[in-house]
Amino acid sequence: MTYLFAPLEGLTGYIYRNTHAAYFSPADEYFTPFLSPNQNRRFTSREKNDVLPEHNKGLHVVPQLLTNQAEHFLWAAGELATMGYDEVNLNLGCPSGTVVAKKKGSGFLTELEALDRFLDEVCAKVPCAVSVKTRLGRYSPDEFPALLSIFNRYPLKRLIIHPRVQTDFYRNHANLDAFAAALADSRHPVCFNGDLFTPADVDAFRARFPQVQSVMLGRGLLANPGLLGELRGGARMDKATLRSFHDELLGRYQQVLSVERPVLHKMKELWFYMHALFAGCDAYLKPLRKAAHLRDYETVVAQIFANCALDPAAGYRA
Ligand SMILES: Cc1cc2nc3c(=O)[nH]c(=O)nc-3n(C[C@H](O)[C@H](O)[C@H](O)COP(=O)(O)O)c2cc1C
Repeated sequence: MTYLFAPLEGLTGYIYRNTHAAYFSPADEYFTPFLSPNQNRRFTSREKNDVLPEHNKGLHVVPQLLTNQAEHFLWAAGELATMGYDEVNLNLGCPSGTVVAKKKGSGFLTELEALDRFLDEVCAKVPCAVSVKTRLGRYSPDEFPALLSIFNRYPLKRLIIHPRVQTDFYRNHANLDAFAAALADSRHPVCFNGDLFTPADVDAFRARFPQVQSVMLGRGLLANPGLLGELRGGARMDKATLRSFHDELLGRYQQVLSVERPVLHKMKELWFYMHALFAGCDAYLKPLRKAAHLRDYETVVAQIFANCALDPAAGYRA
């Protein structure tokens, strides 16, 4: 089984990726949070830093692009191929209102003719492999057969399916029956993504879909960064390793971001997922959210590590 680390905007940038791979069994591939190429033909400094080869040494990284303009996609794919990337991924899943209103991400899924033209042009001219990460549709899984017949016409490297629709955002459950139908009809290798938070979740998925060779994990891996070690037969993550990982990550963010606020923001976002593994840590969540300075934050984190038992088996629960 191949394990892909899902792209999570604001969370899984190059600092997180490198620290994750240094402390835990690494993902086979890390997908970047989306880059948004546009008519400026320039990556933002955040985007550039995320894909610079020297920031991703020793990791297999797949950059992801969010656009509905073939010209912008091709410009970015060209830049990324020159940097050495052999695959770029198209985001057809982002459910955010502002993105969808611009017919990007899962908003592009209603524009069948435009999507067909986009893939036709992109696949004819792109200098590297293209893969797609998609939802089942905007409103209903019934939209997927028409989408799949478009995807099937082009030489995609793989199709990553998050079997929800846009209007689900992250509510409800991944729709496994719709995924089964998609799997049967796809001519591309299919990767599953959605709600795999614990080894038991992955085992159950594999029992139902033994033919699927790769899964992409997001929130479950953020909550338990040691999950892949366990999935590969290693021991459960222990508190000392998680603490070292946490401290290293915090140190690296401080070094690169230098001001307190964005560092605090990133670390608090991570705790939104990680707290699930600490038994009885609810009482610390409010002080953690309210921490206005790093010293307050570090005090609360020290209390969580000292007073709460780590239970990786608990896993993240949406
Ligand atoms: C905070 C957050 C940010 C995300 N950012 C991206 C993104 O940049 N690109 C993308 O394709 N999906 C993004 N996703 C979706 C995840 O990649 C993934 O599809 C989703 O979390 C379901 O997988 P999971 O159940 O394993 O978490 C994001 C999800 C969350 C919660």
